[in-house]
Amino acid sequence: MILAKSLGEFKEALESLPHKEKVGFVPTMGALHGGHISLVQAARKRCMHTVVSVFVNPTQFNNKEDLATYPRTLEADAALLEKEGTDILFAPRVIDIYPQEDTRIFDLGGLDNYGEGPRRPGHFNGVAQVVTRLFDIVRPQYAFFGEKDYQQLAIVRHFTKALGYNIEIIGCPIMREADGLAKSSRNTLLTADQRTAAPHIYKTICQAKEWKKRFSPKEVIEKTKAEIDANPMLETEYVEIVDSDNLRPLENWSDSDNPRLWCAVYARPVRLIDNIAL
Ligand code: PAF
Repeated sequence: MILAKSLGEFKEALESLPHKEKVGFVPTMGALHGGHISLVQAARKRCMHTVVSVFVNPTQFNNKEDLATYPRTLEADAALLEKEGTDILFAPRVIDIYPQEDTRIFDLGGLDNYGEGPRRPGHFNGVAQVVTRLFDIVRPQYAFFGEKDYQQLAIVRHFTKALGYNIEIIGCPIMREADGLAKSSRNTLLTADQRTAAPHIYKTICQAKEWKKRFSPKEVIEKTKAEIDANPMLETEYVEIVDSDNLRPLENWSDSDNPRLWCAVYARPVRLIDNIAL
């Protein structure tokens, strides 16, 4: 595996690949876990070469504290990626990605109107800035994103198509710990008590699948919130039920063939997200 820590080093590394037109790309912010590794394995299966980026993108953080405390574990990440057969690990500096301030504003097709969008103003625009920049540098054929960030995946698909990138976006299923907690870099920030409480989120959203048979979307949202908040370690920020394609909230089950519940929950100060097809 080649570790490229600057744009120059990355370009050289990419040139050295025998099939650089057959690259699968996994963009990450590092602190890698089983969820990321499943993306790398999916890329390895489908593509001749696998490129992984590790870059904690400042423009997608609307909270300075979150950016400052985001776990950074490049050495351990590199060891994991090497073991998984990654060809290039691209770990650029901020100056490589943003040689000057990125002022681009993206049309996200309204997919950012709900869920994370209003709660993290500017977040998805920052994701679009960094992902398009990385696409321009890496020029992959395929790019792999996890369904845990379901809204991000939908938004990436949208702007990839709208901007005419010839890149196939592959969504990969959520990876979970044995107790159901969705794998996330932020899980390492939980205290022992919070870690014990956190699987209650998945348990509750699974229960929502049952509630769906008897209750309206609004009632399912209320019951899900109440059940999560009953745990003193957890506090819901939002629970929404949306259509999996247009991401609009549902009034009635008949509004969608493919409803999805998504939520953000605090185990303060850590913020966890999860989602499930209902
Ligand atoms: O999902 C993430 O880790 C990030 O949002 C991404 C796609 C790597 C962009 O910084």
